Amino acid sequence: MEQLRKPIDTLRSVLQFKPIETDPVARRLARCANVADLRAVAKRRLPRGVFDYIDGGAEDEATLAENTRAFGDITFRPRVLRDVGVVDATSTLLGRAVPFPLALAPTGFTRIADPAGELAVARAAERAGLPYTLSTMGTQSIEAVRAVSSGRLWFQVYVWRDRGLVADMVARAAAADYEALVITVDTAVLGRRERDVRRGFSLPPKIGLGTLVDGALHPAWTRGLLSSDPIRFANVAGSTGLDGTTAVSLAEYVSAQFDPSLSWRDIEWFRSIWNGPIVIKGVQTVEDAVISADLGIEAIALSNHGGRQLDHAPSPVSLIAPVVDAIGGRAEIICDGGVRRGSDIVKAIAAGASACMVGRAYLYALGAAGERGVDRCLSMLHDDVRRTMALIGATDIAGVDRSLITGS
Ligand SMILES: Cc1cc2nc3c(=O)[nH]c(=O)nc-3n(C[C@H](O)[C@H](O)[C@H](O)COP(=O)(O)O)c2cc1C
Repeated sequence: MEQLRKPIDTLRSVLQFKPIETDPVARRLARCANVADLRAVAKRRLPRGVFDYIDGGAEDEATLAENTRAFGDITFRPRVLRDVGVVDATSTLLGRAVPFPLALAPTGFTRIADPAGELAVARAAERAGLPYTLSTMGTQSIEAVRAVSSGRLWFQVYVWRDRGLVADMVARAAAADYEALVITVDTAVLGRRERDVRRGFSLPPKIGLGTLVDGALHPAWTRGLLSSDPIRFANVAGSTGLDGTTAVSLAEYVSAQFDPSLSWRDIEWFRSIWNGPIVIKGVQTVEDAVISADLGIEAIALSNHGGRQLDHAPSPVSLIAPVVDAIGGRAEIICDGGVRRGSDIVKAIAAGASACMVGRAYLYALGAAGERGVDRCLSMLHDDVRRTMALIGATDIAGVDRSLITGS
């Protein structure tokens, strides 16, 4: 007996049973320590075609990989003994305060990841105090998103052939008190996403045998889809007279709308119909950043559409320093693409960006655990930013400068 006491005491001192978590979403989230974990859960829960639509990029996906990898070219030069007892990541974006320098990028067809889609993401963004950008290709309307959020909303537009339709959406965004117009300029034609080609994946998804099998293997996702309203391009539908039931012809209508003749003159046209700040999204060279700044654009999102358009385009993070050196403080610079950790955001800020944008990070979270997943993703990124700042010896965003990195 005496012999047993010692091992039992030792065992007792190290054994610690956590209470059993009965909430499945909390259980799922408890196992996610970072965005890569959220991605892994989303991959399990979503049908393959849906996951690949979110996760994939154009052609060989070289740019998709490079967007994230390029953050690895930057290393920190951490300063120590700098009293980081209080670290404040508060910053400004388009002149207004944000708790940390991040905005949520527009993603079309968000309801494919979770039935609440854009409404869930907009609510989570408001709770986090961050701007949320609704896509023209959104599956919730401009007005429906405003109805669930009194936070900062931006509206993303394409320069489409049907300018009347675009002007109508811009007017609706203004009426619904959206703060900024985000004009996406990297889509003269649609990029070729070969995962979607291989799977025959289309938007909205067409139901074939493959889709049925995929759906049966992912019953939770299928239940969510079948118990909610039909997924449709909510903003375009209203304006075209096409409704959700003609979704396929609507998708054809939309892809015919991409206008290869778009030019800088079109940006001036937007200025004439929109009074608020404009963000140009999809700038990929110093020259185009200079033109944007010369036009008085308020913010430039360095972006290659998350590697979904032109493969072998440069990573956004590699463009920050040359663009900032060329245009000075004439426009805010947003780094959009490849951000998976708060340390990526800190690197971008140190290189000279005003903020970052994330797309896939919140989509993985939405697919993994719905709205609570997005809350979790945004709070993880915020915590990461503060922790990274403490570890490099910066107590505020103004102190995050190029002296704290090498390789930008
Ligand atoms: C599934 C998906 C849909 C997207 N839809 C749009 C869109 O409708 N409009 C747009 O301007 N960008 C769209 N993007 C690009 C994002 O706004 C953003 O540029 C990109 O996701 C940033 O890269 P990240 O995913 O690595 O953060 C989409 C991206 C994804 C992943």
